[in-house]
Amino acid sequence: MSAPLVRIDGLKKSFGDVVALAGISLQAHAGKIFGLLGPNGAGKSTTVKILAGLIVADSGSVEIAGRDVFKEPAAARAAIGYVPQEVTVDPYLTAREHLDFYASLYHLPETVRETRIREALALVGLVGQEQRRARRLSGGTKKKLDLACGLLHRPPVILLDEPSLGLDVQVRHDVWNHVLELKRQGAAIFLCTNYMDEAERLCDEIAIIDRGGIVAEGAPEELKGRLNRDIVAVEVAGSNHHHADSAAALERALADLPVVREARREGTRLKVYVEGRETALPLIVETAARAGISVQSITYSRPGLDEVFLHYAGRAFSEGATNGA
Ligand SMILES: Nc1ncnc2c1ncn2[C@@H]1O[C@H](COP(=O)(O)OP(=O)(O)O)[C@@H](O)[C@H]1O
Ligand SMILES: [Mg+2]
Repeated sequence: MSAPLVRIDGLKKSFGDVVALAGISLQAHAGKIFGLLGPNGAGKSTTVKILAGLIVADSGSVEIAGRDVFKEPAAARAAIGYVPQEVTVDPYLTAREHLDFYASLYHLPETVRETRIREALALVGLVGQEQRRARRLSGGTKKKLDLACGLLHRPPVILLDEPSLGLDVQVRHDVWNHVLELKRQGAAIFLCTNYMDEAERLCDEIAIIDRGGIVAEGAPEELKGRLNRDIVAVEVAGSNHHHADSAAALERALADLPVVREARREGTRLKVYVEGRETALPLIVETAARAGISVQSITYSRPGLDEVFLHYAGRAFSEGATNGA
């Protein structure tokens, strides 16, 4: 693979007693989407703000496009587009005025200015809405305007901090498509998210961050595969007490199978974690039959990133913020 466009080495940052980053190392490459996935308070925004030169790290090194962020801040900053977590548009400026402002900020030459602004408006689907003030735009459109402003100078490195936070489904998909388009154009995209589906859908590589440390790293498929922990969901027929008893009996019977790593029961449903479905599925069916328990449905699935997080972080992703809280 080519030299990484983002290179983070041993990065540490504390805010008073709160250790936001405990020494992380990461890399992101051109034409790839790198995802930093973690719950609230994990350290994602701190990382990306350090990359953007907005806060200074305590120790460690950071390079953007080969430039040291601490020693050559201007050169490093010229290579990035940063779209922060919170919407930053000014309510009283029009979409067009925002883009003009950013075009000046980035010193875009007159010759390309108009073309770039047109492209940015088209990229985020704002054509025809240029003259509207930002306060009259929907939340999703404001976010898209934010994206357009941050990307106007076609930076080789794009830092996106939770780009679809709080957006409705349709707008999220729009934003995802823009991000994929930026990837096709060859940018290195560094994306912070706490949405598993966003990480799965977009990212070529992810690093899972928890309490300021990287707990797992790899392609989403690879991380899930590495768990060797497939899920078999068994629904016992019926829904009354008797059937819940059957599910409990099946849970006990399954606990003895070597392929079963863990079984959890909710009413008449059993969630069974197994090693290798080829042998596990028939064994589960056979065990139920032998115990005289009738099964209504049995489905198999690969583990999701939530299972990956649970495995490496030792607690559920949905338990959320813990750092310093
Ligand atoms: N300016 C700050 N002052 C004090 N604590 C901060 C500041 N910024 C972040 N933190 C703390 O650092 C930790 C990481 O925060 P952050 O990087 O924003 O996490 P994330 O973006 O993953 O939700 C949290 O515990 C947060 O409360
Ligand atoms: Mg954040």
